[in-house]
Amino acid sequence: MIRTHIAGLRAQAGSTVTIAGWVQALRLQRAMQFVVVRDHTGTVQVTHRRDGGPLESLLDSLTAESAVRITGVVKDNPVVSLGGLELIPESVVIENLAETPLPIDDRTGPEGRLDWRFLDVRRRPAARLVFEVQTTVEQAMREFAYASGCTELHTPKLMGTASESGAEVFTVGYFGRQAYLAQSPQFYKQMAIAGGVDRVFEVGPVFRAEPSFTSRHATEFTGVDVELAWISSVEDVMAFEERMLAHVLAAVAAAHGAEIEELFKVSVRVPAVPFPRLTMAEALSISGASAGQDDLDPAGERAVSARVLAETGHEFAFVTEFPASARPFYHLRPAGQPHLTASFDLLWKGLEITTGAQREHRHDVLLAQLTEKGLAPEPMRSYLDCFRYGCPPHGGFGLGLGRLLMVLLGLDSIRDATFLFRGPNRLVP
Ligand code: 4AD
Ligand code: MG
Repeated sequence: MIRTHIAGLRAQAGSTVTIAGWVQALRLQRAMQFVVVRDHTGTVQVTHRRDGGPLESLLDSLTAESAVRITGVVKDNPVVSLGGLELIPESVVIENLAETPLPIDDRTGPEGRLDWRFLDVRRRPAARLVFEVQTTVEQAMREFAYASGCTELHTPKLMGTASESGAEVFTVGYFGRQAYLAQSPQFYKQMAIAGGVDRVFEVGPVFRAEPSFTSRHATEFTGVDVELAWISSVEDVMAFEERMLAHVLAAVAAAHGAEIEELFKVSVRVPAVPFPRLTMAEALSISGASAGQDDLDPAGERAVSARVLAETGHEFAFVTEFPASARPFYHLRPAGQPHLTASFDLLWKGLEITTGAQREHRHDVLLAQLTEKGLAPEPMRSYLDCFRYGCPPHGGFGLGLGRLLMVLLGLDSIRDATFLFRGPNRLVP
């Protein structure tokens, strides 16, 4: 039996088709039975006149969200509010009868929706659009990365030593010893650069054992990572990212612009390149930071984006020249400016979506910076060894996919940008 998507019914008026979907609404009247069926492409009304036959009792037994297959004739009927179409059923198969009552309804709060995420996603077209947009975003990122000479890698998420700082790391049992979940592909993508891979691209899970309960933090999220060899400066990394994002947003606008406008009331703007750049010192003064502050807080990020938008009309802003005190040991420090780093954050509408930098590729300097940060070289031996046998200058960035979607669609929380959110208080479903 060939299945017709509901969005395609209009073209089938007059013919017999089979649809498959869920019961969205039931109106069982004295003379008539109306069933609104939803699939992932739309909704249609199924109309049946009571006749005392088996179809009548089958329709009477239906419940909301039951999974059904219905075969019938598509009829043009201008009176029907759902697209002026209805399906006159000939046979109905109940594949899975939904229990009643449903555990969620239109008044269920955010946590209840997360408890029943499959029903939440099924019932709300906007919730599903998030993942269609995500698919386009990832596809466009890959297109851009491949066309720019990147090789896609999959680095391990189980590690013998904690990456980066050692804080915010999950420990897992590993055959009688401890392993750690990767907080970033950082060290491994640099290892690939040392391995002669010219440009690295990776999309993969990132784990952060942060007890953060904000709308923008998850303990597991999807990271998009890029690392570029033989760069002249960190400017090459920013130029790559802004062109990638312009390509991504053009693809999203073309594929989903109208639907995003309709369901999220957000218009997707394709940004002009280059994006505005300002130094951290400038950003701190805009945000009215207190003396000694070396990083922006969320309010500061919003203030900087608001100023850049007002002055340039641009939604994006690169904040550059972060102080060394606010950055990890492996960020390169510009010649003669040991208190600064050749690094950046990318803000979009007031939220950090990316951190990037040129990396220190000289072994002796790297070792000195590591020691200065109070870290021990021994646990990082295999990383540090990458810089002892000919490592090119390089730099890259990490972008949070959930953050990007959240800003793109104007979502209140990263929970809505993730199929199954993971936070300190949420490990199920
Ligand atoms: O800023 P972060 O921590 O930077 C790094 O991981 C570096 N190693 C840079 C790199 O090249 N990978 O993380 C990168 C991005 C952030 O800008 C943010 O978008 C996202 O990852 N991110 C989170 N997203 C959701 N929940 C969290 N707890 C996140 N922490 C970072
Ligand atoms: Mg960051």
